Amino acid sequence: MTYTVAVSGASGYAGGEILRLLASHPDIEIRTVTAHSNAGQPLIEHQPHLRSLAHLTLQDTTPEILAGHDVVFLALPHGQSGQYTDALGDVPLVVDAGADHRLTSQESWDAVYGGHFHEPWAYGVPELIVDGAKQRENLRTAKRIAAPGCNASTVSLSLVPGVAAGVIDASDIVSVLAVGPSGAGKSLKPHLLGSELLGTANPYAVGGTHRHIPEIQQALRGAGAADPRISFTPVLVPMARGILATSTAPIADGATDEQIRAAWQDAYGDETFVQLLPKGHFPRTADVLGANTALMGLAIDRVANRVTIVTAVDNLVKGTAGAAIQSMNLALGLPEGRALTVNGVAP
Ligand SMILES: NC(=O)c1ccc[n+]([C@@H]2O[C@H](COP(=O)([O-])OP(=O)(O)OC[C@H]3O[C@@H](n4cnc5c(N)ncnc54)[C@H](OP(=O)(O)O)[C@@H]3O)[C@@H](O)[C@H]2O)c1
Repeated sequence: MTYTVAVSGASGYAGGEILRLLASHPDIEIRTVTAHSNAGQPLIEHQPHLRSLAHLTLQDTTPEILAGHDVVFLALPHGQSGQYTDALGDVPLVVDAGADHRLTSQESWDAVYGGHFHEPWAYGVPELIVDGAKQRENLRTAKRIAAPGCNASTVSLSLVPGVAAGVIDASDIVSVLAVGPSGAGKSLKPHLLGSELLGTANPYAVGGTHRHIPEIQQALRGAGAADPRISFTPVLVPMARGILATSTAPIADGATDEQIRAAWQDAYGDETFVQLLPKGHFPRTADVLGANTALMGLAIDRVANRVTIVTAVDNLVKGTAGAAIQSMNLALGLPEGRALTVNGVAP
């Protein structure tokens, strides 16, 4: 069977990456692409790398145009998806790359996003441990999927095994991330101009203000943390895409080195797209560019009495579009890794 697909936000970064990956999916026909200010223009003018989709024209994003497909992807600025999701009741599968359906707590939503609160959907990170099982089991029956925030899923995947196994203390987590500016989208913003970014590293949302913090706390609670607390500091660095997240947390009383490493090994040893590197090895963002892979290195620091986890992802693949398509594959009953690769583009 071939599934027909509409992708909204198709002129943007997340929508473009969803299209790039779907273009090589053998079970998918990309029928419709939509945008907002650029509606009416050829897709190829905004996504010149998507040569196989040169025949498509960006249409307006309306419920009528999105309806009638087997799968709809929404890749819109946060706060914009809800108006469409309410009107897409007849679409069998909707995957939202925005934040609108990620948070289960209205209080958290009000604190960091504001505006109308929409119902939470199945969270699109199959490898996360939630209530003692992998999230992929929930995705197999999902009709509505909330793809993750890129920073949030990177940090959550880094820490959840240690929380679930009880070998780290989730009340004192510190995460510092080097992030590429594509994570902020394609719309023009002065602080994202090349002249502001090249040759410099810029911290932002410092001091507990980043919107992804509640999403991470939600994942950590799902793994069993009663009151997770995280100091979270992203730093923009001059690479178009990629996240390198360094997270540390205190070692739980009595946890041995073997138990700590086993927590991550047991969680990810059978996974294709989340891989723990051998002891002493740490990832680079260059190793995961274009790949649906989260690569992780782990160190046990007995001087500071903390575990350090360094994780690299491509924010546009494992952080967004790859997670969305992996989740779609599960929901459609297709092989989970179809159209996704573990191999990065290097150098
Ligand atoms: N970038 C990432 O790494 C990343 C990672 C995880 C999640 N996400 C999420 O994915 C979503 C899209 O992000 P992005 O980075 O792709 O942003 P982007 O590059 O700025 O693209 C935004 C897209 O949404 C369209 N759009 C803007 N306002 C709209 C409206 N009112 N109605 C319909 N369409 C509208 C734009 O169309 P026009 O160009 O025609 O105006 C464009 O196609 C966001 O919610 C973001 O949080 C992004």
